[in-house]
Amino acid sequence: MSSKAWQSADNTDRGEKIAIRKRLLAQIDAPSVLECYAGDGAIWRECYQGLPCLGLDLKPIRDGRTLLQVDNRKFLRSADLCRFNVFDLDAYGSPWHQWLILLHRRPFAAGEKVAVFLTDGLDFKMRMSSIPQGLRPYLGIPAGMDIPCLHAHHDFINALVVARSTRAAGLDILEAREAQNPRGNMRYYGLILKKVL
Ligand SMILES: C[S@@+](CC[C@H](N)C(=O)[O-])C[C@H]1O[C@@H](n2cnc3c(N)ncnc32)[C@H](O)[C@@H]1O
Repeated sequence: MSSKAWQSADNTDRGEKIAIRKRLLAQIDAPSVLECYAGDGAIWRECYQGLPCLGLDLKPIRDGRTLLQVDNRKFLRSADLCRFNVFDLDAYGSPWHQWLILLHRRPFAAGEKVAVFLTDGLDFKMRMSSIPQGLRPYLGIPAGMDIPCLHAHHDFINALVVARSTRAAGLDILEAREAQNPRGNMRYYGLILKKVL
């Protein structure tokens, strides 16, 4: 199966996570990658080996990659993000806090294209009908209000958050791809972003 333009859910296999990255990476001039969840390096080996790439992880990892042991939120909040034009947020929980920091902090030059990849495992909070941190303003859901069966609207919520937060940051989405794993508990997204002129 292949990935598709971001519409409704699909039942693609895990390889789509790689396919989305390869497809969108090809559109980025001189890719320089910030891999915010470096982990065991599966994505790095398939997609980023040979490219300038800095990996971040909470755990100490020594396997030949260029890595920093740091909470990615701390790095995203404080580092110069202009040296990267590919941001990989391969979280197994929620990547949305990191996504919002990134949109807030990464300045875009006119004409510059940036790729962002996200993996969203259904957030525990959302399973319990609450909203992941920072997303309420983009969904119009007041603080303290819990929505029953929120997880049933996972795809819609993600699409709304991406569309509204991107627009609020003054960015256009040039291409959006999405896929999910066979169990349906992981969403994979790839976006090409550009400043609105
Ligand atoms: C899903 S794995 C990443 C898989 C990796 N992309 C790969 O291809 O093998 C999640 C990794 O992210 C790390 N992690 C989780 N939260 C983090 C955070 N806030 N900052 C940095 N690393 C984090 C975990 O320690 C774990 O190694």
